[in-house]
Amino acid sequence: MNAQYAPYLGKDLLGLEELTREQIIGILDTSEPFKEISERAIKKVPVLRGKTIVNAFFESSTRTRISFEFAEKRLSADTVSFAAGGSSVSKGETLVDTARNLEAMRIDMVVIRHGSSGAAHFLADRIASNVINAGDGKHEHPTQGLLDLLTIRDHFGTLEGKKVCIVGDVLHSRVARSNIWGLRKVGAEVAVCGPLTLMPPRVEEMGVTVFRRIEEAIEWADALNVLRLQLERMEGGFVPSLREYNRVFGITNDRLDRAPNDILILHPGPMNRGVEIDSVVADGPHSVILKQVTNGVAVRMAVLYLLAGGEPDTAEAAKIGTGL
Ligand code: CP
Repeated sequence: MNAQYAPYLGKDLLGLEELTREQIIGILDTSEPFKEISERAIKKVPVLRGKTIVNAFFESSTRTRISFEFAEKRLSADTVSFAAGGSSVSKGETLVDTARNLEAMRIDMVVIRHGSSGAAHFLADRIASNVINAGDGKHEHPTQGLLDLLTIRDHFGTLEGKKVCIVGDVLHSRVARSNIWGLRKVGAEVAVCGPLTLMPPRVEEMGVTVFRRIEEAIEWADALNVLRLQLERMEGGFVPSLREYNRVFGITNDRLDRAPNDILILHPGPMNRGVEIDSVVADGPHSVILKQVTNGVAVRMAVLYLLAGGEPDTAEAAKIGTGL
């Protein structure tokens, strides 16, 4: 881990659009040895000992923030987390000034979640530390995309040729964009399904099939990635009512009864139970929603390791602390 910037991933992880197929597969493969660390009684290896990481969350998060914190601590990094509300951002300090002040304290990496699309790129262009995008506006959420890919690959043994339909509020979803880029690059077939009001204009130009009816999507798919209706990003008028949405596009047991036996149900969370997904499905045998969360820690450990200068083929050694 001598390189200041890893040749493998470059300086930052900003989106899956920028990554090659080989880099995406490399991250997934590197995640595998890191899975086991979280199953140990003592969940710690010295891979990032001496590194300082700031988790800057300008937007709410449960899974991503805590998952990054666990990944960092399990790799022995020193970490600080802050939210906009308790920081000088609430007094009007800019994003760049905040980041430069953090850099003045000699940090190595920033994990950033921000409500504005492009915020992670903006920061990455202006600071020397590694920047990891933990979700920027409606743009990308690369580590969520990677953990979704890993969870699908775990189940089917491959991503090549698998049919994944992203269901619901694609318009407001950074998860959808990262899934579309990532899945297509590794050879999966991707479709979207939802109300036209929640589809980006010319979405088919991203190389996806568009289904108008959820029944057709279920018949076609090996996996459904069910998106949250992002009510906080809607100003009204996108769907007639939540009940109507559930009736037309909701993932219900009745609809899954007609699905192939091993269809996978993913959801990035947080879920609106009874709206985009019924509780019996979310907690049922097709669901891998909590496996996604577990895989999130391993994927983030792999990303941190690779950005710190690790090479994918040395991950096994790094895991047990002999590769430093
Ligand atoms: N999937 C996801 O990004 O969840 P959080 O908003 O809780 O981090």
